[in-house]
Amino acid sequence: MNPQEILSQMTLTEKADLCSGADFWHIPGVPRLGVQPMLVCDGPHGLRKHIDSAIQAGFYEAVSTACFPPSACMANSFDVALEEEVGDALGKDCQAEQIGILLGPGANLKRSPLCGRNFEYFSEDPYLSSRMADGYIRGLQQNGVGCCLKHFAANNQEYRRLNVSDVVDERTLRELYLASFEYPIKHAKPWSIMCSYNRINGTYSSDNRWLLTDLLRKEWGYEGMVMSDWFAVNDRIAGIKAGLNLEMPGTDHDSNRQVELAVLEGKLSMEELDSVVLDTLKILARLPQWPENATLPWEKDHALARKAAAESAVLLKNQDGVLPLWDNQKVAFIGAFAKTPRFQGGGSSHVNAHNVTNSWDAAQGRFSSLTYASGYDLSKDEDDSLIPAAVETAKRADIAVIFAGLPEHYESEGYDRTHLNLPPCQNRLISQVAAVQPNTVVVLMGGSAMVLPWRDEVKAILYLCLGGEAVGEAAVDLLTGAVSPSGRLAETFPLRLEDTPSYLDFPGHDDLVPYHENIFIGYRWYLARKIPVQYPFGYGLSYTSFSYANLRLSQSTITQGDAIIATVEVTNTGSVPGAEVVQLYVADHSGRASRPPRELKGFAKVFLQPGETKTVSLELDWRSFAWYDVQLSDWYAQGSFEVQICADCERVLLWAPVEAVSKLQRPLVVTRNSTLDQLLPHPVAGPAVRKLFAKAGITDEKLTHPDGHTLPLDYPIRNLRYEAQLTIGELEDWMEKLNQSIREAESCCE
Ligand code: BGC
Repeated sequence: MNPQEILSQMTLTEKADLCSGADFWHIPGVPRLGVQPMLVCDGPHGLRKHIDSAIQAGFYEAVSTACFPPSACMANSFDVALEEEVGDALGKDCQAEQIGILLGPGANLKRSPLCGRNFEYFSEDPYLSSRMADGYIRGLQQNGVGCCLKHFAANNQEYRRLNVSDVVDERTLRELYLASFEYPIKHAKPWSIMCSYNRINGTYSSDNRWLLTDLLRKEWGYEGMVMSDWFAVNDRIAGIKAGLNLEMPGTDHDSNRQVELAVLEGKLSMEELDSVVLDTLKILARLPQWPENATLPWEKDHALARKAAAESAVLLKNQDGVLPLWDNQKVAFIGAFAKTPRFQGGGSSHVNAHNVTNSWDAAQGRFSSLTYASGYDLSKDEDDSLIPAAVETAKRADIAVIFAGLPEHYESEGYDRTHLNLPPCQNRLISQVAAVQPNTVVVLMGGSAMVLPWRDEVKAILYLCLGGEAVGEAAVDLLTGAVSPSGRLAETFPLRLEDTPSYLDFPGHDDLVPYHENIFIGYRWYLARKIPVQYPFGYGLSYTSFSYANLRLSQSTITQGDAIIATVEVTNTGSVPGAEVVQLYVADHSGRASRPPRELKGFAKVFLQPGETKTVSLELDWRSFAWYDVQLSDWYAQGSFEVQICADCERVLLWAPVEAVSKLQRPLVVTRNSTLDQLLPHPVAGPAVRKLFAKAGITDEKLTHPDGHTLPLDYPIRNLRYEAQLTIGELEDWMEKLNQSIREAESCCE
């Protein structure tokens, strides 16, 4: 099929009909010209394909499918190759179910730990989030099916998500919320992108031309299609002009007729309509050739889901090496989650999981004895009636493993959390068990950061996040030491909700959400303000230990277009095999802009046998150092930086200096209020200022003497005209000529 040729044969009505879904889940085709419709379905961590795919059946009436760990969990693996493997498996599932586009992954950032949908997102950090999204998309799309990267952009809360306007500055958008999308869009090239519900600075994403055309297509070079989130369209005609190809779901042709009319009335040009239709046709042209009689590879998927869950678990505490458990121990499993695990979140991503395993079943026959007490009722927050029996069970065992966390109704699409706590009865259960059983371990389930008031009372904490359908077996793999934990926190666990960056503005008032914390979200905020946390970003323990040596950089200066290769040696210094996450951060010591103390700019996961050493290479580019300078409308860095290898965002292990030298000069317009320190470093203004003062007897030496300047460097030039012996008129003439020279110099270098 040749999209351009098809377009040239389409009537206005046919073109308009391609502007919204054929039904709830299909991109329409063009029947007269033989163009087939394409089925899309939720994701991201499994297929939610409705049995009758034309309608929106109940959330749970979908085909039985593998449920991989949701993105929040996968991000804790810090393992892009693993995410790619999961993406690949999902792509094969799409092939088997004849799905054209899977609606995922979500690359929104965790601005607040309260966002109800955080379990669907990767991280609070754009570097980690963008790399994981990239791995997912590459893995999935190599199967000839497409992704829909969502929710573009800055959909960071569920509360009034169809109405709120994020009040957020461009630098913050570029460095955080857009950066999380930018890399996968440029690198993995998702077939489609889903625009978000919310507004950004007053404009709905569905009709935001800056977002969907100027930035996405013109600046980032995106060539796929953009569909709306379901029912996210504000104004269909404005949306077409903005570059929104498809409204989803279908509107019974209602909005299509509006589109047709707009063209007939001259409110929408045929070129504007053709442009959105053509992108959609190009995607329809990719309709896969489905394999015949393919079935879902349930067993293979399950084995991968198990591996992914185990690789993503984070060991938060392991006092006295209480974990792993031994075969000859008397073990008590406590908590309803041991038999009914939490493994995915609620809302549109909820899949009909094929084979959910629980830890109780998976651990049978593994220990000298295994007992159980439920400890709490999952539907009740305040009921302590099951605690006494659990305490008795714990007392009789050598070790108590409590399965605790957030019940399903605590976090879901559609609403945000209001606090970071576990149900109070679970907190009391843990404290009371720990009071009688010195060897108490907590296995924690939940899709987002939690406050753990009992963390000093228990010996070990193993955070599974939401581990997908094989979480039960994965938990036992980890508890018994068959797998050494190697996950690291992709989001900070703060001490209190009140400490979180957006606490004062979340979820906003009057549908306005001010992003006052600007670039300081997650660990950027806690580090900059020196706010202690429960567990920092990047944190996680292992059953073995690692050491680092010989951080080397291929070069110690960088400019636009350069790359620095950082290498470091990492050794497994413990006695069991295990994987380590090498984390590289960059710290800006130039003092030229407000920057977080350090930012993640590289990571790698390496598996090491005891005693084994591997050299890890990480590539840094200009963006690894630069910040978004709104004056330049470009990425800028200048001055001293440090490359740091860290155990987590708080602990620097090795470091090396780097000097950044920008090829860009910030544009300068000299005014009466320009200060000496702004003018002196400039290649044209600097010499002119020196000459001016030299004439008045103030030599260069005096002007810039290091032990105290003759003239205050922060004084505006208007205050210094007396020293320069100029009248107001002379000063103005001087400025005019200087600005002229600056413009000439700038234009000659462009
Ligand atoms: C969600 C999307 C989802 C869509 C279709 C929306 O409510 O925000 O993530 O893909 O529904 O179910």
